[in-house]
Amino acid sequence: MEKKLIKLSEVSKVFKVGEENFTALHEVSLDIESGAFMSFVGPSGSGKTTLLNLIGGLDVPTTGNIYFKESGLSSMSRQQMAQYRRENIGFIFQTYNLLPVYSVYENVLFPLLLKGSKEKEVRDRVMDIVAKVGLSDQSNKRPSQLSGGQCQRVAIARALVKDPPLILADEPTANLDTENSLQILELMRELNRQYKAAVVFSTHDEKVTRYVRREVKLEDGRILSDKNNLNGGSK
Ligand SMILES: Nc1ncnc2c1ncn2[C@@H]1O[C@H](COP(=O)(O)OP(=O)(O)O)[C@@H](O)[C@H]1O
Ligand SMILES: [Mg+2]
Repeated sequence: MEKKLIKLSEVSKVFKVGEENFTALHEVSLDIESGAFMSFVGPSGSGKTTLLNLIGGLDVPTTGNIYFKESGLSSMSRQQMAQYRRENIGFIFQTYNLLPVYSVYENVLFPLLLKGSKEKEVRDRVMDIVAKVGLSDQSNKRPSQLSGGQCQRVAIARALVKDPPLILADEPTANLDTENSLQILELMRELNRQYKAAVVFSTHDEKVTRYVRREVKLEDGRILSDKNNLNGGSK
């Protein structure tokens, strides 16, 4: 059996919208194994982003608990939560969220500087990862000089560089054409194998769902189905 990385126990999220309460997640329970390659699939508004944000410690549940390995996120202080994110989670977003004034190299270096590393000690590691995502020749360019697919490669390198056990990718191919989407998925699958980081996508893209080993379907903040895909995640 694979080790359990994340456990959600009856997690609900209620947003206040004016005077009203809106329940975006209804008592969701779910485990994520170490090294997983899986997706949350569902229409817009089904709760995918909310779920990823809770798992990544960007937001907190209204009720229920989330555990990373054996640690409950709800008992962490703000500072411990920031440390949890910094050390354990790589985030990838639909809109890449790169720092526009920094080069490719500097964007990938940045998470290591936040962790307190010295640039000269990690330069080789950063360049290795930039090479892994196929951007060695572009390392001095800024995001505005790159295509969407190249920007998402930078974001992948940035997520991987600190070697986190978990990567959360919120609709990572939503802004890409088919060819670039498939290349990004191939790359993530390859890096999932090499680096052993669990990768959790959210998507409503059929292309993504064919690639993953497990697909959790969401609707209106509830899990509709949770299926292993024996052909996913392999060539
Ligand atoms: N900060 C917020 N305040 C109020 N409602 C929110 C907030 N974030 C999300 N929601 C609502 O929660 C539901 C789920 O949103 P979201 O998780 O973004 O869905 P998805 O990512 O699947 O499109 C939506 O109805 C959305 O409008
Ligand atoms: Mg979303």
